Amino acid sequence: MLMTDIIAKKRDGTQLSDDEIQFVVKGATKKEIPDYQLSAFLMAVYLRGMTEKETVWLTLAMAQSGEVLDLSPLGDKTVDKHSTGGVGDKTTLICAPIAAALGCVVAKMSGRGLGHTGGTVDKLESISGYQTKLSKEEFFALAKENGICLMGHSGNFAPADSILYALRDVTATVESIPLIASSIMSKKIAAGAKNIVLDVKYGSGAFMKTPELAEKLAIEMVKIGKNAGRNTTAVITDMDIPLGKSIGNALEVKEACEILKGKGDKRLRELCLCLAANMHSLSFGTEYEASYNMATKVLENGKAFDVFLRAVKSHGGDTSLITGQKDFIKSEASLKIYSKESGYISEINSEIIGKAAVLSGAGRETLEEKIDFSAGIVLEKNYGEYVNKGDLLATLYSKKERAEKGAKLLIKAFTFSQEKPVEKPLIYKIIS
Ligand code: URA
Repeated sequence: MLMTDIIAKKRDGTQLSDDEIQFVVKGATKKEIPDYQLSAFLMAVYLRGMTEKETVWLTLAMAQSGEVLDLSPLGDKTVDKHSTGGVGDKTTLICAPIAAALGCVVAKMSGRGLGHTGGTVDKLESISGYQTKLSKEEFFALAKENGICLMGHSGNFAPADSILYALRDVTATVESIPLIASSIMSKKIAAGAKNIVLDVKYGSGAFMKTPELAEKLAIEMVKIGKNAGRNTTAVITDMDIPLGKSIGNALEVKEACEILKGKGDKRLRELCLCLAANMHSLSFGTEYEASYNMATKVLENGKAFDVFLRAVKSHGGDTSLITGQKDFIKSEASLKIYSKESGYISEINSEIIGKAAVLSGAGRETLEEKIDFSAGIVLEKNYGEYVNKGDLLATLYSKKERAEKGAKLLIKAFTFSQEKPVEKPLIYKIIS
């Protein structure tokens, strides 16, 4: 087989065979195909797209390029949840304990944050003592014991995806639906869960800027999941405005605990219940409404909170931070942002908020950068709320030397209008 023939075939819009796609993926993984040919291949895919069969073959080939976890010893109620990336997205910390309290097994490996979107592992590590690096044996033992284990990536999952993603990043081929869908799903399939719930986001802080594009991506990923023998549901949700009030690691854990204690931001609570209900409904084959009612019950009666507390304890984390007996370490400085005008808040731009959070020290531009767990932003006003000139909009927490720069950007996230803006629905569609 010749790589030049495969590139030409894709360039001319002919469907590739499973063997040809495997040839590309194996060659990329073993570094036998030069970057210039892989780049040409990726551009041909970007321009020509992929058929459903091609996308499934690409996904499976990438999943099989490294380790594939077998979670079957944990039963058939194993469920994973993935977000395409958001600002203030702490939903895993809430929906995973809810789903576990309902009998699902959430044995999940999560990533770190990069750029303006956060990562679950960083949030967990802001709980002092919490171990995110565990052996496979510990991972299985905790999942069996508690129905939940949230840790960092361990093992060599879908290495072909890392190689191809790095090339896509420098060849303007990231924004291709079959490439994004296969990239995400290859890692989910390698992670082993029988059931997968995807939170596909759209809006200023998301990869997909419109709900229509997010829907296309969601449909593609659900099809891949089904073809790979995984029950898959995608929830398409708004990321035009940040999720909840807090952005930044310790601040987000604190907010997640509030929701688990039955309080907190309504929108955030609503999304977590929706995700947890889908996780349960998919795993147990129950009607969504019935699962939603059960999810609400374990949130309200404290069972989900107890599951989270147990999980934190099992990972060596300081549970007094979760119960609220102790507070998280305070940031060195806090800077209050006041409104310079009166009017309705017509925009709280997620992407800008995410970038201001990175400037505060809550995120990283490169994977090697160290995070300040106490840094971040707390929004004091909601989208659509009326504010007067001089009202407090947000507080930025950071080291002293970072505060001014972060605050300067943060104020730009807010736009005002004299008319009340239309409400933004949180959940656009559920695809299953
Ligand atoms: N996230 C991924 O894992 N892959 C993509 O291609 C885009 C977002």
